[in-house]
Amino acid sequence: MQQAVIVRTRESLQSQIAAARSDGKQVGFVPTMGALHDGHISLVRKAGENADFIVASIFVNPAQFAPGEDLDRYPRNEAGDVARLSEAGCNLVYCPSVEEMYPEGSITNVRVEEMSDLLDGIYRPHFFYGVATVVARLFIHVKPDVAVFGEKDYQQLQIIKRMVRDLGFGIEIIGGKTWRDNDGLAQSSRNAYLSEEERQRANAVFSALHRASCRIRIGVPVEDVMKEARGAILAAGFSKLDYVSAVDPVTLQDLPDGPLEQGRDCRLLAAAWMGSTRLIDNLGV
Ligand code: PAF
Repeated sequence: MQQAVIVRTRESLQSQIAAARSDGKQVGFVPTMGALHDGHISLVRKAGENADFIVASIFVNPAQFAPGEDLDRYPRNEAGDVARLSEAGCNLVYCPSVEEMYPEGSITNVRVEEMSDLLDGIYRPHFFYGVATVVARLFIHVKPDVAVFGEKDYQQLQIIKRMVRDLGFGIEIIGGKTWRDNDGLAQSSRNAYLSEEERQRANAVFSALHRASCRIRIGVPVEDVMKEARGAILAAGFSKLDYVSAVDPVTLQDLPDGPLEQGRDCRLLAAAWMGSTRLIDNLGV
């Protein structure tokens, strides 16, 4: 196993990438906030299937946390993360400082309108603006050919695809499948916040989405299925439900009431609170 090189400045990042490019290599990129789990590692492997020089970033982006959210307690483990990334075939790890990403006096942000104000955007109004801004900046630093994002953050993935299309970044965006524990719980760095007892019940979001997907497929009206899913999640001990929605997989707009139209695609998304931990999940129909 070759140890990935760690760089902390844009300048050293770009000189490493220039050297790889001069060897004719295609650059694949996986942006992360660290605290890596198997899902992240699968994204690195996927990048390796689509490019030959793999860069990952570790940057806990303050712009996507609102005051009072978990920025300060977000899990951090750089040495462990770099070891896992190296093992997965990552060549270069970019760990910029806040100043490197947001130079003093920075006032330029990226807003992907409409799609950022739905679903999670209703509950975390700042969130996707922070994500789009940092991802645009990371793309400008890394200039990859291909970038891989997890489907676990489905709304984020669609927003980034739209940003890349609208701004003409010329980067291929690939979605990596959600990694789940044996009981269906989607892997997430925030699962570390769950107590043992909360963890036992946390897969109820996945179970409700799975059942909802089957019910929509057999023609049960979407609004009835959403109501059942909401009931099931709350009955399992989630303290609060932000949303369970059936939406168009690309625009993220709500689907019309009634049975799903023949040939129409649908994505189910949910966000719910288990105690003080907010979990999100999604599933295709
Ligand atoms: O999905 C994440 O970990 C973050 O939102 C991302 C894409 C690395 C931007 O900070």
